[in-house]
Amino acid sequence: MQYQEIGDARTKCYSVRMSEQSPDQPVVEICNLVKRFGDQTVLDGVNLQVMPGETMVVMGGSGSGKSTILRHMIGSLYPNSGEVKLLGHTLSELNEDELNEVRKKFGILFQSGALFNSMTVAENVALPLREHTMLDHNIIDIQVKIKLELVGLREHADKLPAQISGGMKKRAALARALALDPQVLFYDEPSAGLDPVTSAEIDRLIIDLSKKLGVTSIVVTHEMDSAFAVADRMAMLERGKMIMVDDRDAFAELRDWPQDRIQELDDRQQTIRQFLRGDAEGPITRRKAATNYAEDLLGEPLPDDPTRFGPAVESTRPT
Ligand SMILES: Nc1ncnc2c1ncn2[C@@H]1O[C@H](COP(=O)(O)OP(=O)(O)O)[C@@H](O)[C@H]1O
Ligand SMILES: [Mg+2]
Repeated sequence: MQYQEIGDARTKCYSVRMSEQSPDQPVVEICNLVKRFGDQTVLDGVNLQVMPGETMVVMGGSGSGKSTILRHMIGSLYPNSGEVKLLGHTLSELNEDELNEVRKKFGILFQSGALFNSMTVAENVALPLREHTMLDHNIIDIQVKIKLELVGLREHADKLPAQISGGMKKRAALARALALDPQVLFYDEPSAGLDPVTSAEIDRLIIDLSKKLGVTSIVVTHEMDSAFAVADRMAMLERGKMIMVDDRDAFAELRDWPQDRIQELDDRQQTIRQFLRGDAEGPITRRKAATNYAEDLLGEPLPDDPTRFGPAVESTRPT
């Protein structure tokens, strides 16, 4: 790939107005999403499309708004402005019944996992089937076995959450997310709190499920090994904006960009490179220092553009 092409594949808002999901229509379609909490603008005009069957990884530093964007995709938060569509439905336009119908079509693996401790693994997985279907208990038992087999937990069906490891709890929560045969799977920091080997096993499982079931997956993470392992495409959030959406190779090219040619990259590309590599030095660090210093001086948070304080801040910094 040519250097000039890096990051050019920014997303545009589609203007498709179809209510039914067609094969080439995005599964998730986010258009100019703005979200504020009080006077903090967390998402500032975010665009993103996720296509059927792909695994999209949304990355960003902690507090960058990854969980917030995910909660918009599942209809648990609504935008201040802009639009979020899931499977062709504009979530903010649905009533509670319609939203519940859409909810049956996706599964979520939350950061915490959140199994019911008093129920066995099998009972936890059976719960969505008991609540949302009229299936006979024999059929439910079979469904539960299939889901547990998919995540490699069939022989642990009768254990309580307290009797299994952290990685196995994640697997059980994933089996529960799969209970209703979702078309879409959302993962919020799936490897948080896991050791590297267990974390790699969860990554492998995410890839397997995507292949075996053909589900569309949206994975939110700040762990780069995990991100590169599972992604078809990646999206990077920084200061409320989606600063790059592209395939994994384009991100890998930036990550591996040699230091002696760093000047060929613009500020945005250097920011992405620093994040992907976890480098201590780079534009992210410089911006943080500038922001904190100006905050210190002025006793208030900076407006959007820290560079407007450039001269005062820059002149005191070592070059
Ligand atoms: N319900 C809420 N009320 C107020 N502020 C929130 C709420 N949810 C998230 N935030 C703020 O929004 C920012 C982004 O949070 P979050 O999406 O959880 O980040 P991430 O998942 O990337 O770590 C943080 O500054 C957080 O404090
Ligand atoms: Mg989060």
